[in-house]
This record gives sequence, C-alpha cells and structure tokens, in this order.
Amino acid sequence: MADGSTRRVVVAIDGPAGAGKSTIAKRLAARLGFTYIDTGAMYRAVSLWALRRGVDLSDMHRTEQLAKAARIDLEPGGRVLLNGEEVTDAIRTAEVGEAASVIAVLPGVRRAMVEKQREMGARTSVVMEGRDIGTVVFPNADVKVFLDASQPERVRRRLIDFQAQGQPVTAETLEEQIRERDQRDRSRAEAPLAQAPDAVYLDSTGLTIEQVEEEILRLVRARVSNGKDFR
Ligand code: DC
Repeated sequence: MADGSTRRVVVAIDGPAGAGKSTIAKRLAARLGFTYIDTGAMYRAVSLWALRRGVDLSDMHRTEQLAKAARIDLEPGGRVLLNGEEVTDAIRTAEVGEAASVIAVLPGVRRAMVEKQREMGARTSVVMEGRDIGTVVFPNADVKVFLDASQPERVRRRLIDFQAQGQPVTAETLEEQIRERDQRDRSRAEAPLAQAPDAVYLDSTGLTIEQVEEEILRLVRARVSNGKDFR
C-alpha cells in the first residue's frame, strides 16, 4: 500500500493495572473507527492455556512454545478467542491475571506476543493498550499516552470490575494483588512497564471517563494532521 491516502495510525496507551486503559482505549477506538487491541488479553490467553495444560509458568521453553502457537483473536465486539474457543470471561479471573504477569517476564513469550501485536498494527489503524506498546511494540506510535491513577483509585476500579463479574474479592486482597503485579511488571528486565520519554503522562484519578477520552482525542487530532477529521 503506502499510497499516501490510507496511512495507518497507532495510538499507544500504557499504564498500570486499573488505570482505566481498557475503558478508555475501547471508547477511543470506537470514536476514531480504529481497531481496539487489548494486549493484556493476549498475555492472559496464553497463561490460561498454560494453566490448563499444567505447564510450569517459569518453564521458558514450554511457555514460549504456547505463546508462539496460540491463535488469539480479539473480536470487534470484545470477544476473545483462544485457538477458536471463546475465553472472554475465563481470562478475567485474578488467577489468570497473576499468571499473565508471571509469564510476561519471559523474553520468549514477549517476543511471540510482540510479533503478533505488530502484525495487528500493520493491518489497520489501532488503539493498542498494554505495558510496553509505546516503548517496545510501536516505538514510533503516532500518539503515546501513559495512563495512571492513584493506588486507592486503581484498587477501587478493579473492585468494581470484579464485583460486576460476580467474583468475590476483598479490597485488601485486591490491593495486595495489584501492588505485587505492578511491582513485577515494573521491575522485570525485559520491556518493563515504563513511560516512554515521548509519552504524555495522564493521571485519571480525578477525571471522568469523558474527560480522559476528550484529552486523548485532542492529542490524536493534534498529532495526526493528515487532513482527516477524526470524530
Ligand atoms: O492489562 P492486564 O491486566 O490485562 O495485563 C495482564 C498482565 O499481562 C500484566 O500484569 C502484565 C502483562 N502484560 C504485559 O506484560 N505487557 C503488555 N503489553 C500487556 C500485559
């Protein structure tokens, strides 16, 4: 392609658990007509497969094999398929989130995921959210946002998510889980959660979803001035 008329745009949103990435990225993608890509769902899908197969989560070789072999489809309606099977709800448990963070430290697993993510971003314009999108997956993304929120606010949001899914969890347990997961995501050697130097830092703590969405839309419109009016 590269005929100049159909430039693909990448909007990268990174940040810790509970910062509001999924909610915001989904809405932005709908507003812009871009494809929404939840990369956390991809790590979760691979870890679900590993858990089901009884694979040791620290086994670099087996987990990399699974990560490479996994067929992961992120459908526009939000359904997540692993090797053709719907796993939308199955990947949302605390156990799978924890396992995803554990396998995400492994370089082979990350390589396989990044390759799939780059393929997805090469096909259409995307709003992609995760931990390393602006730093590793698409270092040349058109717009990069590091979305954050205070620890108590992130715990509060995750609590609401879990309660909505009917998963029993206390605020104390959740706080501990989030703290541990953030620590692991930020301190791993390979592609740790970090703000890219050219990313815009946005603290969503005191903001409404609409305010965050408008702020990022403003950034997209300012950076992607190829004559298109994104609405
Ligand atoms: O966003 P999430 O909670 O669904 O992500 C689950 C885990 O997957 C997260 O704790 C770390 C890992 N992850 C990652 O390492 N890199 C990404 N781009 C997305 C998720």
